[in-house]
Amino acid sequence: MQLKRSYFVPLSLLLAATLCSLSLPQQEERAKNLKVLPKDISHEDLEKEMRSYNKALGVKCDFCHVRQTDNPKKMDFASDDKEEKETAREMLKMTLRINKKYFKSGKDEKGAQMMTVTCYTCHNGQKEPASKPPAPPAQEAPQQH
Ligand code: HEC
Ligand code: HEC
Repeated sequence: MQLKRSYFVPLSLLLAATLCSLSLPQQEERAKNLKVLPKDISHEDLEKEMRSYNKALGVKCDFCHVRQTDNPKKMDFASDDKEEKETAREMLKMTLRINKKYFKSGKDEKGAQMMTVTCYTCHNGQKEPASKPPAPPAQEAPQQH
């Protein structure tokens, strides 16, 4: 009996601690340095947006984001230390504008600009979009008979 009783308190403390820690991370996940995307964007939508950049440019997250100086295994997503991130912001502004002005794309039910033209439209999986088609392969010499 004595044994059961002494287990009771530590277990309930553990449960309380777990419940507290579960409610914490979400507050910390909030993006703190958004200048173009809506500041109240959900974590899910932000992740979708970022993954679409990876696909559009054929890169990984670290093409635009730096690593934490004290822990290089982790990324510092809020930092603006990579030039590519600032370029991407300008690209995003341009893309939003193209859609609004030239395609008259409206807003979706969440109030976000609908994108007819996307990063992928130009980038097509490349860091730098091609401005002209690749040179045709060298013509084969006509066959001699
Ligand atoms: C082509 C460049 C580019 C790539 C690739 C990219 N990001 Fe971003 N990311 C940005 C830009 C630009 C912003 C800031 C947007 C703004 O200012 O509205 C940003 C913001 C963020 C933020 C918000 C940080 C904060 O606290 O303000 C997170 C989190 C993030 N990116 C995660 C990712 C992840 C995860 C990946 C890979 C799946 C990724 N990004 C790939 C350009 C990029
Ligand atoms: C209308 C076409 C177009 C669209 C749409 C577009 N880009 Fe670009 N992007 C370009 C061109 C062209 C370049 C190369 C510019 C140069 O070489 O000076 C470029 C360059 C970049 C670069 C620099 C690459 C490097 O090698 O440093 C980044 C980053 C980038 N774009 C991100 C984006 C993102 C993110 C989006 C979507 C939000 C986007 N772009 C949408 C045309 C576009």
